[in-house]
Formats: sequence, structure tokens, C-alpha cells
Amino acid sequence: NKAQAWSARFSEPVSDLVKRYTASVDFDKRMAMQDIQGSLAHAQMLAKVGVISSQDFADIERGMTIIGQEIASGQFQWSLDLEDVHLNIEKRLVELIGDAGKRLHTGRSRNDQVATDIRLWLREQIDLIQLQLKSLRRTLAEQALIYADTIMPGFTHLQVAQPVTFGHHLMAYAEMFTRDAERLADCRARVNRLPLGAAALAGTSYPIDREQVAKTLGFDGVCQNSLDAVSDRDFAIEFCAASAIVMVHISRLSEELVLWMSPKVGFITLADRFCTGSSIMPQKKNPDVPELARGKTGRVNGHLMALLTLMKGQPLAYNKDNQEDKEGLFDTADTVRDTLTIFADMMKGLTVHAQNMQAAARQGFATATDLADYLVKKGLPFRDAHEVVAHAVLTCEKRGCDLADLSLDELKAFDDRIDSTVHEVLTLEGSVNARDHIGGTAPAQVKAAAQAMLKTLSSQ
Ligand code: ARG
Repeated sequence: NKAQAWSARFSEPVSDLVKRYTASVDFDKRMAMQDIQGSLAHAQMLAKVGVISSQDFADIERGMTIIGQEIASGQFQWSLDLEDVHLNIEKRLVELIGDAGKRLHTGRSRNDQVATDIRLWLREQIDLIQLQLKSLRRTLAEQALIYADTIMPGFTHLQVAQPVTFGHHLMAYAEMFTRDAERLADCRARVNRLPLGAAALAGTSYPIDREQVAKTLGFDGVCQNSLDAVSDRDFAIEFCAASAIVMVHISRLSEELVLWMSPKVGFITLADRFCTGSSIMPQKKNPDVPELARGKTGRVNGHLMALLTLMKGQPLAYNKDNQEDKEGLFDTADTVRDTLTIFADMMKGLTVHAQNMQAAARQGFATATDLADYLVKKGLPFRDAHEVVAHAVLTCEKRGCDLADLSLDELKAFDDRIDSTVHEVLTLEGSVNARDHIGGTAPAQVKAAAQAMLKTLSSQ
């Protein structure tokens, strides 16, 4: 079985099923450009320290340029016999340039090679995801400015609690996505270390210059222990964990969008391009995109669990188990990237039904706390004020009216400290305006928070 790079030692070929079972080329060919990039940096260093000649390096560069073009144009012949992206490219290099191609793998193993490729690939993905996160955060902050004084009911337990502004609600998500960006930036710092030089597991006897390879590839430094370098996938776990949290935030937002778009609630309408109809019910316009995003959160969470489980039983150093890291990682990055891209656009195209929001805030005694606070300012201890207002709410509930509908005399009957200034307190506007401190829902605070975020984003 001459096709395989390691074939000399073997007396019989693997079966077709085992070949398919052990091969990764179908999915790891996604890292072809990173593989070429890593090989070139390695070869350049080998030439510099005199392990290969500069002519060898020139040939390798020439061969890799051709291979890069073949891959980009779809002409490259990927072969399952050659197992993975690394062996496929190396074999083609030897075909193209002969002996210099056979010298490329000096002082290197696929173990440090694959770890390097994944890190290069993931670094690029993190940067792309950061761009999308940024655009989503910008959209949310811009929308928050527009809706800074649009009043809606705030909920706890999905029961009307206190009035908030829609801008405030949107900024809550902007905060979550900001933390996500911080987490990914932190993760990137650990992704951005070079495993190459670890070779199979113990390092190599050639006089290599790892720092130079790190510099060429834009890594911040080198992995400090060769055993750890080839077997560490913490960086991938961290990425999947950060991604799972991103998706949890997306999923919570999705849940709200679906709820808000239900005709029973009617707070928003999503643009048609994010919805689909029903094949049977002509009236339907379903919020498919947020529903699907909520669903896709499951698979991203699953990939995190798979990766944790993949690593938990592995002895040092490299084991073939590690080949299972890629598909979940790729799918995680793809899902998060696409989801964020769509959401930035979708949140821009939201139609907000401010009147419905306002009407909903009027139901459910959203300003009851404000009345209690009013009584506290008049000298009543908070617990007593709470009790007084509870009586008032009960009366209103029986009558089917709101607190603001009660006349001054009726209100006075609950506590004679109540005077004509009370009706101002009972309005939705009075309630939100009163929460005027950092993090509060007052329109002025929401505007300040949104502006601060936009400023930070434009300076990044
Ligand atoms: N395809 C392998 C992977 O994804 C590359 C490393 C293979 N190394 C080995 N010793 N079999 O992990």
C-alpha cells in the first residue's frame, strides 16, 4: 500500500471502511491554507538554521504557491488514501518539486503541525466573529438610542413588574455581547501560541528556532512544553465555551423576539426576510430565524460537551482521539459567525409597535412600586407602604381599573399622606424617569449608556 506516507512498516492495507473511519481529509482540508502557511514558516526557519538549503526553501515556496492555486481553484486532487490535509499536501509537494519536498517534514510531526493549523484557523475565526459581535453591539446601541424613551413593561417571572424602556432592554443584550467579546479576546491570547517545534512529543534534535517561526506566523509566543504543545486542546474548549455563552445570549434574545412577535403580545414585527410562511395556513408569518437560532444553541452547547469529553481521558501526549476535535470546532465557529451576522441585520430591521408596548405597560400595575416609594418619601416605612399599595392594587383588580384611574379621594382612603402630586408618580414616564442613575432605565441613562458603547466601539 504505497500511497500512505508511513506504509513501509505495514504488511497489509487497511480495509476501505477503516480507511474512511480513520481519514480526516474530508473535513480537515478546510485548514489547507493554514497548513501551507505553517509549512512555509517551518521551511523558512529550517533554511535559516541550515538544516535545509535555501534552494530547498525556494523550491518549497514555489511548490506551495502552485498547490495553493490548485486548492483555491478546486483542481487539487484530494485523496482519502492520504488520510489528512497534511499528507495530501506533502505528497503533492513531492510530486511537484521532488527531494526538497521530502525534506519539509524534517524536525516536524503531524502532531505539532495539526495543532498549529487549528490555532491559525481558529485565530482567524475569532477575528471574524469579533467583527460580527461588534456590528451586532453597534446595531443594538443605535436602536437603543432610537428607543431610549419607548416604554414597555419590564417582567420578572414573565409577570409585569415595572416599566422599562425598550432601549434599556436592548442595551441589556449589548452588555451580554460585550462580555462575549471580552471572553473571546481573552481566549485568543491562549490560542495564539505556537506548538511547532514540539515535533511528535519530545521536541527535535535539529537546531530549530521556534521564536522565529512564531514571529513569522504572528503568534505571541511558543508553547513552553512539547508534551503539552501537541496534546493541549484547552484553547478549543475555551473557544467552544465562549461560543456556547454567545449562543445562550442569542437564544434568550430569540425567545423574546418570538414572544414579542406573537400577535398576543405584538411588541415588534421582524422584517419579512427573516420570516417564513406556512404551507397550509395562509395567514402565517413565522419568526423562523430566531427560532432556528434558539435551536442551534443546542448543537453549539453539544460541541462544548463533546470536546470536554474528548479530552477527559487522554494520557499525554498526542492520541488519535484528537482528530475528533475538528468537526465540532468548525461547526461552532460557522454557527456563531453566521448567527451573529444575521442578527446584526435582523435587529436593524425591527419594526417596533410602541403603542402596544405602552398599553401593555399600563396593565399589571407596573407603577405599584412607585406608589410605595412615594409613601416612603412621605415618611411611611417601606414594608408598611408595600402593604398599603397591595390593598390599593386589590381594589383596582376587583374594579378592573389601574392605580392611575383612582381619584385622589379614593387614593387618600388608603393613606391620607397621599396628595395631588401622586398622579405624576403613577405615570409610566414618571416611573422610568425616576430611575436616573448608572444602570437605571431612565431615558437619559439609556442614551448615555448607548452613546458610551458606540464611542468605545468606534475607538476599537
Ligand atoms: N489528522 C490528524 C489529526 O487531526 C493529524 C495528526 C495525526 N498524527 C498522528 N500521529 N496520527 O489529529
